[in-house]
Amino acid sequence: MARKNKTQEQWKPLKDEKVNYEPWQLLTLTRVEADTRSQLAPKPRRLEHSLSVARTAEHLAVLYDVDPYLAKIAGLLHDWDKVVPHDELIERARHFGIDLGVPLESVEPLLHGMVAARELPQRYPHIPREVWHAIDCHTSAAEDMGPLDMVLFVADGIEPLRHGSEGIEKTRSLVGNVSLEDVFWNAFVGGIVYVLEGGRYLLPRTIDIYNTLALSRARRRALTGERGKGEV
Ligand SMILES: [Fe+2]
Ligand SMILES: [Fe+2]
Repeated sequence: MARKNKTQEQWKPLKDEKVNYEPWQLLTLTRVEADTRSQLAPKPRRLEHSLSVARTAEHLAVLYDVDPYLAKIAGLLHDWDKVVPHDELIERARHFGIDLGVPLESVEPLLHGMVAARELPQRYPHIPREVWHAIDCHTSAAEDMGPLDMVLFVADGIEPLRHGSEGIEKTRSLVGNVSLEDVFWNAFVGGIVYVLEGGRYLLPRTIDIYNTLALSRARRRALTGERGKGEV
């Protein structure tokens, strides 16, 4: 219990990072945050979560030398479509041709990021596509996870308002102590364990993503002589 409190304490100070953004970046961040507040107003807890993910993503980005501007935007917008009713979300996913190899009804909780990543570029044409890729794969991960994708995925999983299960606490404890790749790996594998232990439906594609990432980590370790530090 003492360890848990200490870890949560560690996450409390996640206020806005002191990042020297350019004036045009501040303008965009202000607009995106205002839009997010308006979009998620019907779901106040979802809004608080999104603001918290944005702060956490910014923090992780600063820590791991990723662009904090893009990380914060991705955090703000990642759950944009969480207010869309389930049936409508599935309809929109069909409209965009999203195919996960299974009936979309069985994976509805995963669709909001994929749909938002296809809708929001029209609203924000000046925001770089890396942001949309990160939002696209924030629920499912992907074979081609880049640093920004990992930052958003991890931030979504460990933001301080999220209740800390054992797996989440472990990922939190790794931040700043191991590479971003290792923090992400723990969050990703911990998520799979959570699904399996809870008897929930596991997207078949997740197994392919897991195997691809596991092989690439093994190859990297063989090349660099790294140990598998921080793995679940
Ligand atoms: Fe989400
Ligand atoms: Fe989220």
